[in-house]
Amino acid sequence: MNNANGEKDTDGRSGFSDSDALRTHWKKIYEQSAVEKLGWYEERPEPSLKLIHEALPEKSSRILHVGAGASTLVDLLLEEGYENMWVNDISEEALRRLKERLGGNAKRIHWLVDDLIHPRKINQLRNIDCWHDRAVLHFFTRPEEQKSYFKLLRKVLRPGGHVIIAAFNKDGARKCSGLPVCRYDAKMLSQQLGPEFRLIKSFDYLYIMPSGEPRPYVYAWFQRALT
Ligand SMILES: C[S@@+](CC[C@H](N)C(=O)[O-])C[C@H]1O[C@@H](n2cnc3c(N)ncnc32)[C@H](O)[C@@H]1O
Repeated sequence: MNNANGEKDTDGRSGFSDSDALRTHWKKIYEQSAVEKLGWYEERPEPSLKLIHEALPEKSSRILHVGAGASTLVDLLLEEGYENMWVNDISEEALRRLKERLGGNAKRIHWLVDDLIHPRKINQLRNIDCWHDRAVLHFFTRPEEQKSYFKLLRKVLRPGGHVIIAAFNKDGARKCSGLPVCRYDAKMLSQQLGPEFRLIKSFDYLYIMPSGEPRPYVYAWFQRALT
């Protein structure tokens, strides 16, 4: 059955609790659709680009894109000369699409197929300058998933490092890709990150899906204290 956003609906229960089921879910999503038709596709992810430019003028900055899918952000940042990027997703299929598009440039990226909630590889990273997430955190609806996500973030991010998160805002959709989501505002993100992180900037952004439907997001940029 399709929901109001024209997406396949699940049976209404919360999202998956194990990595394998989640991986299979996202594999199907990426296999079923052209990247440009996905309900989160952006030709130019302007809000992310703008915040990354402001937060990280140094092209050598170590940027971790979590749940990056096949986002064009990586292509554009490579073109601009950003060289130290780690790209993660639970879906090998999503990253295969991105690698295919990047061609020879794919070797300039560190690839990490891994589950953010049960990490086996990302948790080895340290001293990341920027954690960038667009449209991933909101899928973690259980408190224990959110706890794991923020624990991982704190582990890999250096003191003074930046966090850029875009999630469905309080007026946003209740589901995406058939999965329930948790909707955020900057205050909620701030509470999850804790007092060590200072909110530098946040704004609402109305993203228009390829289908023409609006999807309101909140973008927030935080910086971790130096000590
Ligand atoms: C809505 S898409 C957003 C993709 C990309 N960030 C963008 O803005 O185009 C959500 C992405 O999160 C990935 N994802 C979902 N759960 C994940 C998890 N537990 N660990 C890593 N990636 C996950 C999905 O495979 C998918 O690519």
